[in-house]
Amino acid sequence: MITKHNISSLFEFVKNQKKSNNLRIDLINKSFVLSQHSKIADISISKYKVVFNCKIEKKIEEIGQILLPILMLKKKFYIGQIGQSLDGKIALLNGNSHYINDKNSISYLHSLRSICDAVVVGVNTIRKDDPLLTTRAIKGPNPQRIIIDPSLKLTNKYQVFKDGMPNIIFTHSKKNKKFNNTRIYKLPERNFTNLIYQNINTLGYKLVLVEGGSKTISKFLENGLLNIMQFIIAPTIIGSGINSINIEPITNLKNVIRTKNNIFKFGKEIIVSLEF
Ligand SMILES: NC(=O)c1ccc[n+]([C@@H]2O[C@H](COP(=O)([O-])OP(=O)(O)OC[C@H]3O[C@@H](n4cnc5c(N)ncnc54)[C@H](OP(=O)(O)O)[C@@H]3O)[C@@H](O)[C@H]2O)c1
Repeated sequence: MITKHNISSLFEFVKNQKKSNNLRIDLINKSFVLSQHSKIADISISKYKVVFNCKIEKKIEEIGQILLPILMLKKKFYIGQIGQSLDGKIALLNGNSHYINDKNSISYLHSLRSICDAVVVGVNTIRKDDPLLTTRAIKGPNPQRIIIDPSLKLTNKYQVFKDGMPNIIFTHSKKNKKFNNTRIYKLPERNFTNLIYQNINTLGYKLVLVEGGSKTISKFLENGLLNIMQFIIAPTIIGSGINSINIEPITNLKNVIRTKNNIFKFGKEIIVSLEF
């Protein structure tokens, strides 16, 4: 039975395989054997389709359907994700966002983190949520934490600087600040978002999750740096609060972002995934 405890090893396993268009995975004593021609395949994964013939938790099947094809791509890939209400809010006006989505979506988010090499957040998310950005809900590998803090407003009081795991900060500040377990990259202010993207690529991180908040995701979106953008939508109405996306106003509906999409039902929520 695949559970939240071993799905991360499944993800790790697929991640380490060479590219192949039609993999079959057999589950033997909770370990994974990969082949292309096995007759007793329990899971087969191709670029567009994942078929499970084994006993599997429904939630894990739903997660696998969305994430395993991404892992098959084996190329540089940037995923934006945001959890929001039906009316497009990611937090209340006071910044409180715990929790808009339900527990299933937290497992999903941690699975998404576990398949990624790095997770990117903006300084406001650290200040308002004080997150760890780990995968503790599924016990998967943790991605490299990357924080965008243009003016170096952060201090060592936040959890990411206290748990002993490494961080990267991108800034254009000239301040000489030090943070625990943190490498600081100083970049020019001009063309900052694109320079961050280039530096992440140079550092060798291929599968990158841009997790929020709104300003950070919007910058990556506006600069055309995301391969997919996933909205995890809870059936709730918040009314007023922080919008999930904030980009320059447009004057003609012909210019809205309208692109290929996939819609997944996920427990009581839905995931709308836009492809660029
Ligand atoms: N629901 C969810 O999925 C989710 C996920 C994450 C966060 N959140 C919520 O989102 C809220 C924070 O969102 P937010 O939009 O206010 O902040 P944010 O995106 O976390 O941080 C934005 C700040 O980071 C810096 N920044 C990030 N990317 C940049 C870029 N490409 N170029 C220049 N500066 C960049 C800027 O800092 P400076 O202002 O210092 O220049 C910017 O104001 C919090 O309430 C948090 O709870 C929700």
